Amino acid sequence: MAIKFNILTLFPDMFPSMLGQSLAGKALERGDWSYNAVNIRDYATNHHKNVDDTPYGGGAGMVMRADVIEHTLLSIKKPSRKIYLSPRGRVLTQNLAKELSQEDCLTILCGRYEGVDQRVLEAHEFEEISIGDYVLSGGEPAALILMDAIIRLLPNVMGNAETADNESFGSATGGLLEYPHYTRPAQWMDAHGVTHKVPEVLMNGNHAHIDAWRKEQSEAITKKVRPDLLEVKFS
Ligand code: ADE
Repeated sequence: MAIKFNILTLFPDMFPSMLGQSLAGKALERGDWSYNAVNIRDYATNHHKNVDDTPYGGGAGMVMRADVIEHTLLSIKKPSRKIYLSPRGRVLTQNLAKELSQEDCLTILCGRYEGVDQRVLEAHEFEEISIGDYVLSGGEPAALILMDAIIRLLPNVMGNAETADNESFGSATGGLLEYPHYTRPAQWMDAHGVTHKVPEVLMNGNHAHIDAWRKEQSEAITKKVRPDLLEVKFS
């Protein structure tokens, strides 16, 4: 099953960016996903091609106009599920990425300036999604991150199907952060002349011990770095 992204943006040249490289790039070439970046400015109605205006009630910045956004949206035949990227939205999680990866089409609105006129978001039932508690200069980098999180979950995109399940937030780690990884050389001397060995347990091929050690590591790392994930899990 392939997924199509319609992207409503003032900067269509920002796509596909890094998604044209590596595994996502190969998947794009194979047709596992496709995108259609629509320039919102092409749908501006007045002769100045204005896409934004000052906010009612005053305040800093500019607001993207409802009529222009709607005009852009209506140019898409079947927009399906509509997403507006904004720091005000529900925070993206691995579960949400998984859910979205089941869709065959997503329409993503990227805001700029102070945001978008609320009326068009409500009239066309945009879901608001944030990629985290910080503010970007626009929705485009957030769209690329959301798309990346989705694309790598599509069938055939990741080489080893097990990988997605094992990593941080994956089901095999029970929603915990991932254990540390090691590869050759078994003994490595750093630039300060200090030699570092690989943990012994990983070297003896006892998979029950290895699994137990990895689980322990996952729990310890999660407790230290993201205790909130443990609270969610056990509350
Ligand atoms: N636009 C600006 N900041 C954002 C964020 N944190 N997530 C999604 N879209 C945004």
